[in-house]
Amino acid sequence: MTVFLSGVQKDLAWSELEERVKKCTRCALSSSRRNAVFGEGSRTARVIFVGEAPGADEDARGLPFVGKAGHLLTQILSSVGIDRKDVFITNIVKCRPPENRAPVPDEMMDCAPYLEAQLALLSPPLIVCLGNTPTKWLLKTTEGITALRGRWFQWRGSFLLPMFHPSYLLRNESKKKGSPKELTWRDINALREKMDALAGENIKGGRSS
Ligand code: URA
Ligand code: URA
Repeated sequence: MTVFLSGVQKDLAWSELEERVKKCTRCALSSSRRNAVFGEGSRTARVIFVGEAPGADEDARGLPFVGKAGHLLTQILSSVGIDRKDVFITNIVKCRPPENRAPVPDEMMDCAPYLEAQLALLSPPLIVCLGNTPTKWLLKTTEGITALRGRWFQWRGSFLLPMFHPSYLLRNESKKKGSPKELTWRDINALREKMDALAGENIKGGRSS
């Protein structure tokens, strides 16, 4: 079902959603978090990046990808001229799992409606999933990131690209051909090309959005 909302309605829905996430107590992670992390970036972003869950730095600041992995993500983006202010960055789970463990399925089930609402309100043409957790969740697959990364999928009318998680790149330093870092370099360039191609189509089609 597609619901058409005016700009004002979307702004209201977005603020309401952000408030709800900040106060959410749907799962036990709410009792150990310092801050729920709604996400950060442009409301008119053409790309949304979806990670796994906040870590300690993100929990402390209430912002996504602001620790070591986030620093690397920012660098990866800027390597192809993407400013992180111009995209939207969030996670499938909005509160930090204790000890940085991966979120469990119940937590993802409770939290995913927030991501779904963000995706519905932003309706970005491009979605990037960082690592196994968001990729498996959104694509409803059990295939691993190594098989899926670098391939374009359709997701409810958007193009979805799985990439390695920046934390994985921090653990794998090699830049040799075929290494996770080198593959990520290829993937971020593929994203850049897709962004440019879509921007070109919009100009040709007379749309400026
Ligand atoms: N890792 C994630 O998946 N998300 C963050 O926000 C930070 C680290
Ligand atoms: N496992 C993950 O969850 N993500 C990666 O990028 C690699 C391995």
